[in-house]
Amino acid sequence: MKVVVTFPIPDVAKQMISEQAVLQCWESEESIPASMLIDWITDADAILTTLTCPIYSELLAHAQQLKVISTVSVGVDHIDVDAAAERGVIVGHTPGVLTDSTADLTLALMLGVGRRVAEGDALIRSGAWSDGWKPNLLLGTDLSGSTVGLIGLGPIGQAVATRLKGFGCRVLASNRTLRSVEGIELVDRDILLSTADIVSLHTALTPETSGMIGRRELALMQDGAMLINTARGALVDEAALVAEIKSGRLRAGLDVYAEEPLPLASELRELPGCVLLPHVGSATERTRRAMFELALANLFAGLQGRDLPARLGAA
Ligand code: GLV
Repeated sequence: MKVVVTFPIPDVAKQMISEQAVLQCWESEESIPASMLIDWITDADAILTTLTCPIYSELLAHAQQLKVISTVSVGVDHIDVDAAAERGVIVGHTPGVLTDSTADLTLALMLGVGRRVAEGDALIRSGAWSDGWKPNLLLGTDLSGSTVGLIGLGPIGQAVATRLKGFGCRVLASNRTLRSVEGIELVDRDILLSTADIVSLHTALTPETSGMIGRRELALMQDGAMLINTARGALVDEAALVAEIKSGRLRAGLDVYAEEPLPLASELRELPGCVLLPHVGSATERTRRAMFELALANLFAGLQGRDLPARLGAA
């Protein structure tokens, strides 16, 4: 059996895999070249990968022996899951273990934008804070008592709601499955957009959700409202969002972008009124370790023909 790993992994993990299979591991921080991956995957039984490595239909066509794709991510929008299913390839991912870290970071963005944390930090570092406490210095908005609208109410959306209740927020949600959760008001998406002080996205990126927050949706948001995105950049029409932030009407806290890394030319970099993070929703030591362990467990289960601990699509 053969396992392909598309990113550098610790020696101990290499040893564990090598005890069960021939291992081919990409050792560089740069992405594995597509031609190399095609070559490696041709006789692979399993692949361990991450969200920066697209697993597309033509690639899978080369992988006649492939049984399992294990990704160290909860999101699977980098994988053509329909093509995998057609070929009988099982997909494992890492739900659950990153829920709390991602929810925590969502709150960090809400507070960071509302209380202008990055601007305050920049003011001090630039040496421009020269006259001490001032009554109107960096006035922001409160998270406490605000109305927050969650688009998507899966585990991360629910974990965000739990935290927001501690801040005395009114929590609205719009959810495809109309899952009802105590203390959260389920509302139509347009009503959510036009009512909330803060709109936060917690839905997976699929062909149906791609671009779901476009010019029309942003225009529905209240003056001064804030968009938070810790899900996927392509959920939002970034150009339309830039225009709204530029005009001073909306603010944003973003951890994800349509193109990652965020292109140097992106206007988002220039705009006050937004806090930008480099896709670090799950980036704590504990969570990243748990994600890696779960992805390894998925990989080994797939290799051995057992049920995956976290198989995509399992209830
Ligand atoms: C991160 O974005 C993930 O999907 O795990």
